[in-house]
Amino acid sequence: MSYFADKQDLVRDIFSRYPETPQGRRSALMPLLREVQDHEGFIAEPRMHEIAELCGTTATEVRSVMSFYSTYHTVPTGRYHLQVCGTLMCALAGSDELWDHLVEQLDVQPGEVSPDGRFSVQKVECLGSCGTAPVVQINADGYYENVTPSKCRHLLTELRADRPPAPDNVVPVTVNAEGRQAT
Ligand code: FES
Repeated sequence: MSYFADKQDLVRDIFSRYPETPQGRRSALMPLLREVQDHEGFIAEPRMHEIAELCGTTATEVRSVMSFYSTYHTVPTGRYHLQVCGTLMCALAGSDELWDHLVEQLDVQPGEVSPDGRFSVQKVECLGSCGTAPVVQINADGYYENVTPSKCRHLLTELRADRPPAPDNVVPVTVNAEGRQAT
């Protein structure tokens, strides 16, 4: 079933923000992805094809854009999607041990959702906060920095009680070529 078939006003509104050119249509790709991600929690293959058709491009290009941003998911995620930075500075600061601890404690592997629907995990590339390694991002909300084993334990306790602590920092906003906020 089409996601956008009954959302033509929204589609028109999104496209109205960009020039009426083939490049302009492709620029609408990000907000269309965001729309689906926000409402369905992930972007399934048929949605990629639908967005590709709207933007006059291919599903391969849509997938390629998605792969650049760890905030887009191709499989369902839990209420709390924990993204652990695995790049050098975080690895040196203990992110591998942090990852092992999370996977063991939550009993969930990448691509899975815990049986209670709460948790999913993902190892991601540098989150751009290397000075506060190791860093964990939860959903698209914010960064948890200097995540020591005790901070990790506290974080999990609070998340299990659905009391997510305030992040240490907000996720930086990406600005695309048109000067618009991309995430
Ligand atoms: Fe982890 Fe940059 S290496 S935030």
